Amino acid sequence: MKIISSIDELRDQLSGQLRTAFVPTMGNLHEGHLSLMRLARRHGDPVVASIFVNRLQFGPNEDFDKYPRTFQADIEKLEKEGVYVLFAPTEKDLYPEPQEYRVQPPNDLGDILEGEFRPGFFNGVSTVVLKLFSCVQPRVAVFGKKDYQQLMIIRKMAKQFALPTEIIAAETWRAEDGLALSSRNGYLSPTERSKAPLLYQTLQQVAAQVRSGQTDLAAVEQEALAQLANADWKPDYVAIRKRANLQAPSAQDLANGEALVVLSAAKLGSTRLIDNLEI
Ligand code: PAJ
Repeated sequence: MKIISSIDELRDQLSGQLRTAFVPTMGNLHEGHLSLMRLARRHGDPVVASIFVNRLQFGPNEDFDKYPRTFQADIEKLEKEGVYVLFAPTEKDLYPEPQEYRVQPPNDLGDILEGEFRPGFFNGVSTVVLKLFSCVQPRVAVFGKKDYQQLMIIRKMAKQFALPTEIIAAETWRAEDGLALSSRNGYLSPTERSKAPLLYQTLQQVAAQVRSGQTDLAAVEQEALAQLANADWKPDYVAIRKRANLQAPSAQDLANGEALVVLSAAKLGSTRLIDNLEI
């Protein structure tokens, strides 16, 4: 595996490649990330991964400084997955000057759910992903459904800018007890880790209620929020939304059998976890 930090060297290395499959990450790789590498390999060749902890997508009081950086262990994992190039730019490589040109997602998609609780987050994500795409010029790029809203925003960006990159979705990789793997799980104390599966269990209960014909979605959401709060979580939201655009479904949408997804974010101690489940 070639490890490259400069954009020019990356371009040299990948020149003439027409079927590159790309997986952008922020490192501290776990099985969920590695499942994306495997999916990428099925959709293109060579596979290029990136590791870059993107300051633009962290709020001033968020965990940019303490975000786990485990570069050597990450390299070994990517070697085993047959990744051809790891693009690991420094901040100077990717942002040699302040990144003043930005991608601003539409408010109805970028300022709801995660965007409401993390202002500017999707501007930072979209901007870095567009820039990484410009560096790698992939034919396909793989994103996890774990970050459902992110996946949707990147898909829409690729469509609206007519990017030559097809966006592929990977299923959420979970621990045996249901907890979605995340780099932030490492922040959990052993006690918190033992409580963490409640988030996914709550989503499963919501999905079961909706599937069984419950139409008072606000009541279902409230009950889920209460269940988390009663177990010492601090939920930001539990929201049942249309998969197509992440807006709330109307009664008519429910009657039409519109495809839904339930999304949640909640804090356990000082660790903020997100998860979702297609209904
Ligand atoms: P990061 O959190 O490192 O995630 C990189 C990719 O792995 C994302 O597409 C994410 O959805 C996926 N992923 C994370 N956990 C997963 C799991 N348990 N199962 C399946 N896929 C999972 O998301 C980012 O980085 C950044 O926002 C990035 C897109 C790299 C832009 O900076």
